[in-house]
This record gives sequence, structure tokens and C-alpha cells, in this order.
Amino acid sequence: YGTQTVNGKGHLTIGGVDTVDLAHTYGTPLVVYDIALFRERAQAFKETFNNVGVRAQVAYASKAFSSIAIYEIANQEGLSLDVVSGGELHTAVVAGFPRERIHFHGNNKSFTELQYAFDEKIGCIVIDNFSEIALVKEIAESRQEKMNVLIRVTPGVEASTHDYITTGQEDSKFGFDLKNGQTDKAFRQLHDHPYIKLLGMHCHIGSQIFETDAFRLAAEALMEKMIVWRDDYEFVCEVLNLGGGFGIRYTEEDQPLNPSAYVEEMAEVVLSLTRTHNYPLPEIWIEPGRSLVGDAGTSLYTVGSMKEVPGVRTYIAVDGGMSDNIRPALYGAKYTAVTANRMDESHEKQVTIAGKCCESGDKLIEEAHLVEPAEGDIIAMFCTGAYGYSMASNYNRLPKPAVVFCENGHHQLVVRRETYEDVVRLDIPLQSVEQLEK
Ligand code: LLP
Repeated sequence: YGTQTVNGKGHLTIGGVDTVDLAHTYGTPLVVYDIALFRERAQAFKETFNNVGVRAQVAYASKAFSSIAIYEIANQEGLSLDVVSGGELHTAVVAGFPRERIHFHGNNKSFTELQYAFDEKIGCIVIDNFSEIALVKEIAESRQEKMNVLIRVTPGVEASTHDYITTGQEDSKFGFDLKNGQTDKAFRQLHDHPYIKLLGMHCHIGSQIFETDAFRLAAEALMEKMIVWRDDYEFVCEVLNLGGGFGIRYTEEDQPLNPSAYVEEMAEVVLSLTRTHNYPLPEIWIEPGRSLVGDAGTSLYTVGSMKEVPGVRTYIAVDGGMSDNIRPALYGAKYTAVTANRMDESHEKQVTIAGKCCESGDKLIEEAHLVEPAEGDIIAMFCTGAYGYSMASNYNRLPKPAVVFCENGHHQLVVRRETYEDVVRLDIPLQSVEQLEK
């Protein structure tokens, strides 16, 4: 992947940096990002739109990995930012991310979160439901401030991916149903409000999707509705946001297209429908998360204990697990790994990489092929850059790992490792009865 190679010592390098050195310098578990790869992915999306002559915004869906430093890189690359909570918005504010390129998502944004969005004058709120319409109107009217919005719809497209991460089907907690009149009702409540500027529509059909057809169908469904609004209300959508969800390759079994292929497909649908219906070409917005950071991230672990179940399998246990990557336990997600300190030896030993959490299901990879394992080996698990650190927890009170960015032979710490002090920082010791009665 990306700038990974093997150096003269037989060590895996990322961004020109020896991963074994990184493990020694920063400790493990460690999440290492290949920043050149992130930049390359971002530019590829932007170039694809340029090449087909469509104005676009590529918003980084930052739930995949949110930190001040990645927001700074996203800004350097001219990306927009999709945030889904006050916490992500705050991270963007601290990172100095240009507010006009921040898009706010979520199916239950609170009054406080929406106020924060108005305070910061962000680029747009993606409205998810009728309660939110009322809240946004109330805030906009009381402040007499205009806010850009998109209407999020569920287009009724079922993309084949894990049930937990499919979102475009009708029975979804997200968005307005496109087919039963909800979307039209939302449109009528929003399109001619003095303090609301309706930019257009949004949909996101799911995540880790490989087939282009699902994106095509979604684009068609939304365009159809846009044309109806133009004909019935003389309202023209300036923006069509088709979400993220482009699949990436975790293992040999995954056969994704080049991410740009999905974008080309969407653009083609929009270009052809706008031409046939004489509709002004909208800006297309997309929101890739995984396809920007997924394969840019690699997790490093150190091998500790090992256990042989005779005739069945060899377990090797590493110093992290479901606490820093819950995807295998939660979705049955598959990954590949290597022995980073012995890349020059043959990876023929089949082992199960177990985490250190007190839970049998805490296995990171069922069937990994590594070098004959030894305590102290550094394991590199690939493609952990999306929804790894961002879904990490302190289960079993494990401190969260550190995160390092590598590029052109440089490395820098961008999220420090949690300490035991951090682990107890929110705890408040019991007070005595006397103290409580005071
Ligand atoms: N836009 C919206 C509205 C979304 O809900 C999502 C992801 C994205 C964009 C970005 O999707 P991506 O390009 O990253 O596939 N935790 C799960 C994935 C959950 C995705 C949630 N929404 C996982 O680890 O697979």
C-alpha cells in the first residue's frame, strides 16, 4: 500500500520511516498514517471531477478518523469536512478549519450542537428529520441569521455491505424517505424560508460498497426528485451530495474499483440527466471517509504471549485489540498483517492474532500468515486507518494508542498515547457521608 517498502534491515517502512524504529520510539500499539497516500487519494477525487468538468466539493467524512492534525492535512488538500457531532465540530474549530467548508451531519443534533454550528457560521447543515427542521428554523429566526442546508434523503437503494453500515434503504434511522412524501414535505418547509438557504439534497447509501450500480441508482433517484421540484416549484438545487461509502481493499478477497471510478459513474449520471432535462449542472459533493484514510493507516503491535491449541491453531497475543480496533469483533471485518521486523523471512506460519481484552471474541485476525512468531515481534496490521482509532474505547481500561504521521522520511506524533492518569481523569472518588451531608 502507498509508500510502504522494506528497508535493508528487513523492516517494513511507511512514508520512508522504519516501523520498527517507530514502535521503539513511540511504543505500541501505535497507529501510523502514510500521509502522502492520504494526499494522493484526496487529489485523485478532485482531479476526477475536474476531468469530467463538474464543480465539486470533496468532504472528508471525519468520523473515519478525527484529530486536529488530520483536519489540518484535509485543509491543506482543499477538502471540505463532514462532521457529525459537536465534538468533531469542536476539533475542526481548534484545527482552524475554514468554517464555510464544514458540513454538519447527524440524525439527532442537539439544540446546543446546532447553536454551535450557527456560532461558527459553518458551511451547511445536512437536515435529517422534521424535529431538526423545527430546531434549525427556531435558531435561525431568533438569531436572524441565514444558514445553508441540504435535505438528507433515503433513496431506497440497498447496497450490499454489512447490515450495520448500510444506510440507503427505506427502513433507516437516517433522513427523509424519498418515496412516501416525506422529502417533499421537508422541501415545502424549507425552500422559501427567509433564514434558510436550501442548497439541495444529500444521500449516503452505506459504507464499504464495491458496486457502482448502487451509486448510479441513488444519483438517478435524487436527480428525478430535483427535476420534479424544478417543474413544480421552479426551484433549482445547486448541490447534489451523494455521500461516501467507496469500498477499499482490506484483503485479497476485496476487489474494489479505483475510488475515482465511483465518482466517474456518479458524474456521468448527473451530466446525462441534466443534459436531457435541461437542468443546470449542480455542484456534486461527496463525503469519502474510509477511502481517504483507510489504507493510509497501519497499526503496529508487539507480540507478547503465545498459545498452541494442539492440532487446532496457534494464538499470538498482541498488546492491543478490540479496544483500539473493534471492527473484527463488531463486523467480522477481515485484515491482513505482516511481521514488520522480519519482512525478509517467509510469512508461512498461520496464526490467530488475539487482542489482550478479556473477551474470547477479541481476535484481530483469525488466519494471519506471519513469520514463525517470537515474543517481541512487531506486527503491522494494514488498512486500519478508518474507524479504528475513531471507534477505540478504554475497555478493560486500556489506554488508547498513540497516532503518528509519516511523510517523506519524517514522523511526528499527532495524538499522544493515553497514560494511566488519563484513564482515571474523569473519575471522582467517593465522598464520605459527612462530606455529603455538609
Ligand atoms: N457520509 C455519511 C452521511 C456517512 O454516514 C458516512 C459513514 C460517510 C459519509 C463516510 O462513509 P465511508 O466513505 O467512510 O464509507 N464504522 C463502520 C462504518 C460506518 C460508516 C458510517 N457512516 C465501519 O467500521 O465499517
